[in-house]
Amino acid sequence: MPPAHNDARPLNVLFVTPECAPIAKTGGLGDVSAALPPALREEGIDARVLLPGYTSVLDAFPAAREVAALEVLGQPVRLLESVLATGVPLVIVDCPHLYARGGGPYQADDGDDWDDNALRFGVLAKAAAICGSEATPLSWRPDIVHCNDWPTALVPVYLAFTEGKRAATMITIHNLAFQGLFQFSDIRALEIPEAALGADGMEFHGRASFLKGALLHADAITTVSPTYAQEIQGPELGFGLEDVLKARRDALFGVLNGIDTATWNPATDPNIARPYGLLTLERKMASKRALKKRMKLAGSDDIPLLATVSRITHQKGIDVIASTLGEITKLAQVVVVGAGDREMIEQLKAAQARHPGRVGLSIGFDEPLAHLVEAGADIFLMPSRFEPCGMNQMYSQRYGTPPIANATGGLVDTIVDDATGDTLDGTGFLIPEASPDALLEGVVRALAARSNPSHWKRLQTNGMTRDFGWEPAARMYRRIYERIRPTS
Ligand code: ADP
Ligand code: GLC
Repeated sequence: MPPAHNDARPLNVLFVTPECAPIAKTGGLGDVSAALPPALREEGIDARVLLPGYTSVLDAFPAAREVAALEVLGQPVRLLESVLATGVPLVIVDCPHLYARGGGPYQADDGDDWDDNALRFGVLAKAAAICGSEATPLSWRPDIVHCNDWPTALVPVYLAFTEGKRAATMITIHNLAFQGLFQFSDIRALEIPEAALGADGMEFHGRASFLKGALLHADAITTVSPTYAQEIQGPELGFGLEDVLKARRDALFGVLNGIDTATWNPATDPNIARPYGLLTLERKMASKRALKKRMKLAGSDDIPLLATVSRITHQKGIDVIASTLGEITKLAQVVVVGAGDREMIEQLKAAQARHPGRVGLSIGFDEPLAHLVEAGADIFLMPSRFEPCGMNQMYSQRYGTPPIANATGGLVDTIVDDATGDTLDGTGFLIPEASPDALLEGVVRALAARSNPSHWKRLQTNGMTRDFGWEPAARMYRRIYERIRPTS
């Protein structure tokens, strides 16, 4: 990596992302993309966001101004400019036949990937790469193009093979399980240089991996927690890319995500039944009652309420929760809010039918309900098999809802285990593995702690007073940007 240098000119950063809450969100990347750029601007960085022109994006910015019309990989593209609600300048890559359709960013409503994803995200990356090169049609030139996950991972590949002055590149890995793997026949139109494609390049077990391209060519690689940065260099969580990551470990950094402490604040949250804070924790009960009513869970206020809000996938261990419900429902009521894997949803529905009045299920993406769950639950469940960072365990601590979570990735870095049952700084419960037995033990341990009101209050207040703001991450990104910033 080039040495740091002191250039007085402010850093210009183009933050390229396939998601940005609340306009386009499937998970934590949407939250990060909404909150990190404003925090970078607070650090004196001129950060701007570049997003695909999904229908939701075009609808949110009807007055976006066209600043350029160009052909990108043979597709007619317009670059539009607007400003996000947070005040961050926005560039929209408008190409309606690729982005302006129903469904989600990556998938149709039936859950199948869009079959033109290679082209959709190839065009996005190529447009961003053009903005980072001498050929940019924008009046503003980025020093750094900060990319996020596989949909943006071709940017460092394109820029590495671009003549003339170019921006430096950073790829942030939010989830190594998603790599953007395509048949070579599907990427023919993407104008990827031949030299980038071989076994030493993007080739990955006979297919082309967008993410591997970025890992090879980005000037810096980051991931969203220090523990995950270590884990992905090993075979268990490296998803076959551990050797590539190890080879680049000098350019690899773990930067822990923060949370948007304004959006996720129980004292001001409009989605919960009654605001509360450290000194008014008893008001949390109003949200518990509202959540139970909505989920049709009867019975006394005292019955513990355990909950999760999550993509319903193997990663998140929702099957582990489902297979433990028989035991857990003897001790508590359980709420699951999420969307995803059809089989796991069937498993949850079957458990709900077996335990009437004990399990609440809401299938679908529901942002206001996610807030009510954070406030209304007594305990948050996160038995993830792996977790690059995880946002919900931070939200739940802020809402006085201690999490039970598997000791993996960012969960280790953000939860202080109530190790001895009388620790002064505990904020939740870490379990040793994502298995039904370990989860059940965690639940038993948490419920024992909850039966001691003063101890429980300490756990809650420890979590509520932790500083999960974005400032430390923004400062760390600034230091990495400064190291890779081009010298002229
Ligand atoms: P991941 O990005 O792996 O899905 P994170 O914990 O980082 O996991 O972030 C998940 C984010 O998505 C949180 O803000 C969570 O509340 C939200 N979320 C996930 N599923 C749903 C859902 N069904 N309804 C509302 N919000 C959801
Ligand atoms: C990914 C990860 C999650 C992380 C989020 C934001 O979706 O699965 O752990 O919190 O990205 O970085």
